[in-house]
Amino acid sequence: MKKHSTLGEFIINNQSHFSGSSGELSRLLNAIRLAAKVVNHEVNKAGLVDILGAAGETNIQGEDQQKLDVYANDIFMQTLTKREIVCGIASEEEDDFVVIKGSNGNNDNKYILLMDPLDGSSNIDVNVSVGTIFSVYERITPKGQPVTKADFLQKGKKQVAAGYIVYGTSTMLVYSTGRGVHGFTLNPAIGTFYLSHPNMEFPRKGNIYSINEANYVHFPQGVKDYLKYIQKKVEEGQKYTSRYIGSLVSDFHRNMIKGGIYIYPTSSKSPKGKLRLLYECNPMAFLAEQANGMATDGYQRILDIQPTELHQRVPFFCGSRSMVSKVGELMGAYPDGADY
Ligand code: AHG
Ligand code: MN
Ligand code: MN
Repeated sequence: MKKHSTLGEFIINNQSHFSGSSGELSRLLNAIRLAAKVVNHEVNKAGLVDILGAAGETNIQGEDQQKLDVYANDIFMQTLTKREIVCGIASEEEDDFVVIKGSNGNNDNKYILLMDPLDGSSNIDVNVSVGTIFSVYERITPKGQPVTKADFLQKGKKQVAAGYIVYGTSTMLVYSTGRGVHGFTLNPAIGTFYLSHPNMEFPRKGNIYSINEANYVHFPQGVKDYLKYIQKKVEEGQKYTSRYIGSLVSDFHRNMIKGGIYIYPTSSKSPKGKLRLLYECNPMAFLAEQANGMATDGYQRILDIQPTELHQRVPFFCGSRSMVSKVGELMGAYPDGADY
C-alpha cells in the first residue's frame, strides 16, 4: 500500500484479505471514521466553552451544551445505530449494553462494538490530548436473535479489530484488523485521513515509563521494585524518562512510537485497578500485540482474561516487550497478588 493512500482506500484494499468478506467490517470502520471527524470538530471547539456556553447551559444558538464525553458517546452511538452496521454496542458511558434492532425488527449484522468514547476526559478543559478507543468482536448469538451479555464478555483475543483516535496536535486514527497496526493522520482542511504511519511497532526496548507516581505509597511491591530498578539504572548512567499525560490513548501512542511502558497498577486505593478491561485494556492490548509489544495485568496476558462483567477493571501493564517482561518478573516475586 502506498504511503499516501487515504483511510477509505486502505479499508477497501484491506477487505480483500478476508476471504468471504461481506463488507460489514469495512462499513463499520467507515462509520467510525465519520464519527471521529464529527467528534474531532467538537473537541477542537472545547476551548471556546466560555464563549459558546458550558455543559448544562444553552448556547447562543439555543442548543443545549453537553459534556464532551456524553457528546462523543451520542455521536458514536448514533452513527453506528442509524446505519444498521452492528447488532450491539457497549460503552463506558452506558450502564448496560445496547441491543440494536434492524428496521425489520431483527438484526442480522455480524459485529458488536465496545468503546470508550472519550478517554482522558480530565484533559478536556486544559487543551491536552484526549482520545476514543474502540473494539470489535463477531457476535456469538445466532444471527436474527438479539445479542446478549455473553456476546460482550468474550476474551480479548477474540477481537476482530481494535483502534483509537487521538485528538492531539494532529488528529490520528490508528487501528488493526489483525494485520499490523496502521496510523492515519487527518488533514483538517479537507477532512481526509491519510496513511502516515504504516506498520507501527513498539521498539523492543524503551526508556519512557508512564505511571501516576503520586500513588506510589499505594502501589503493590512489584511496581515499587520496578520503579526502584529504573532509578538504579539511571544512577548507573542509563537514560530513562517519565512521561504521563493521564490519557491512556495519548500515553500509549507516544510510547508505541518512542518505546516505553504504561502502567496503571492495582493500589490499596483501587484494589482492582482503574482501567476498564472491555473498553480500554483489551483494545489497547490487541494493538500492542499487533505492534510487537506486550500487555499484561502484571501476571497474565490481558487478552486471555475471561471477562465476567461489562465494567470490570483490571491492572494494566502495556508497552515495549523488554519493559513489560521486566516488571512482570518483579511482580512475580509476589505471586499472591498485591503486597502493599
Ligand atoms: P476516562 O477519561 O475514559 O475516564 O479514562 C481516564 C483513564 C486513562 O485514560 C488515564 O490514563 C487514567 O484514567 C488517568 O488516571 P489518573 O488520573 O488516576 O492518573
Ligand atoms: Mn478511558
Ligand atoms: Mn471515557
